[in-house]
Amino acid sequence: MDIKVSGGSIIKGTVFCSGAKNAVIPLLCASLLSKGKVMLRNVPRISDVFDICHILRYLDCKVVFKGHTMLIDNTNLKYKPLFLEECQKIRGSYYFIGVFLALFSKCEILLPGGCKIGSRPIDVHLQAFEDLGFKYFIEDNILTVYKIKVNEEASLVLTKKSVGASINAIFAGLRLNHYEIKNGLYEPEGLDVIHFLQKLGYHLTLNNEVIRYEKSKLDFKLTKHTVIPDRMEAMTYAILGLLKGEVTVKRVNTNDLTCPLKILKDAGYQISYTETEIYAKKSYGKEMHIITDVYPGFPTDLQSVFGVLSLNTIGKSKIEETVFEKRMQIYYDMRDSGAQCEISGNQAIVTGTNKIHSKNYNACDLRHGAALLLLALLGDKESIITNFDYVLRGYDDIINRLKALGGKITII
Ligand code: EPZ
Repeated sequence: MDIKVSGGSIIKGTVFCSGAKNAVIPLLCASLLSKGKVMLRNVPRISDVFDICHILRYLDCKVVFKGHTMLIDNTNLKYKPLFLEECQKIRGSYYFIGVFLALFSKCEILLPGGCKIGSRPIDVHLQAFEDLGFKYFIEDNILTVYKIKVNEEASLVLTKKSVGASINAIFAGLRLNHYEIKNGLYEPEGLDVIHFLQKLGYHLTLNNEVIRYEKSKLDFKLTKHTVIPDRMEAMTYAILGLLKGEVTVKRVNTNDLTCPLKILKDAGYQISYTETEIYAKKSYGKEMHIITDVYPGFPTDLQSVFGVLSLNTIGKSKIEETVFEKRMQIYYDMRDSGAQCEISGNQAIVTGTNKIHSKNYNACDLRHGAALLLLALLGDKESIITNFDYVLRGYDDIINRLKALGGKITII
């Protein structure tokens, strides 16, 4: 999909934050682990969710998705190899591996896809599966994992801080009597998955970053769960307000955004917030120094949109990406649009300006696409953004919501 965006418009109004993409994907996979129906609320209507629903239906689950509420019935679930193209389209399909190992002690799946922001290996996941008594091999892009040892307990130390691997290890070990996992990384989205598993009846505890699990009997029941707000979406709309007018974001959890909000406050932007709301007004800030890090550090998923915000600073902002190898594209687009940007490796130095000359852009991934939208809105004329489908993977109904805020944006 390609869109046309006009610069110059004032953006003003209120948006309600959607459910978190990076929580709902593992939650949907984890719904197979329930001994009964699951009702999820605040589910974002994004393409990654529709892709996961397609896989659930392929597995003979009943899925009803009305508005932002989803009902999943896994009564007829049966094992099938996951050779669906949806598995290759997104990264989060890999959560089916841990869930299948818990349910069937085996899994055959096409290797995951996802944003091309680096090599995106799954070695930490695979090492965790081996530590839990599984073996694996990869042939023709198909990963096969199977049980070799019936060990009743395990103690893991993950080889790297990885959100995906931490959640997948928790899933994969649920058949054991007991396990503990160290060096995990959960972030708010992983914590939401742990809370959901506890609601399903799994005895999981998290103390000082160590997950402990004791096997227990699950009772048959309907489990209801509300997906946490998407902190990346919330901040994207807040930055829109800082750049283009005045935006209030509601139904947020600002406790999950302590680091980026502090950076904005310290830079002197006109931003205020309560536990559940953010109010952002067009303003200029002092230069920002940002280094992405694991939670609770500065989130890598906000790096590109903060890069665009740094155009509205007085001074030179410095942004460094440390989590993914290829996530600096936006700075080349900014430089091509007239901004003063020095880029070397995973570091960029941006001198504040308000002269952005509109040009046409091509979205390379989800967060880059969102940053391009902000950049196009800063332009002096019109821009076309190609491959905008990437943005629809993670921002629910963003085109209509932007129009409602006064943005001039049309689908070509
Ligand atoms: C999740 O990706 C999110 N994706 C990412 O959001 C997010 O940026 C990332 O966590 C960090 O917060 C989903 O939840 C679907 P990691 P994930 O495993 O789990 C390396 C977005 O835009 N690594 O924490 O893949 C990895 O290459 C997306 O919404 C290994 O080396 O992230 C990266 O450098 C982008 N081996 C670092 O660890 C592994 O086996 C952190 O990755 C796994 C990861």
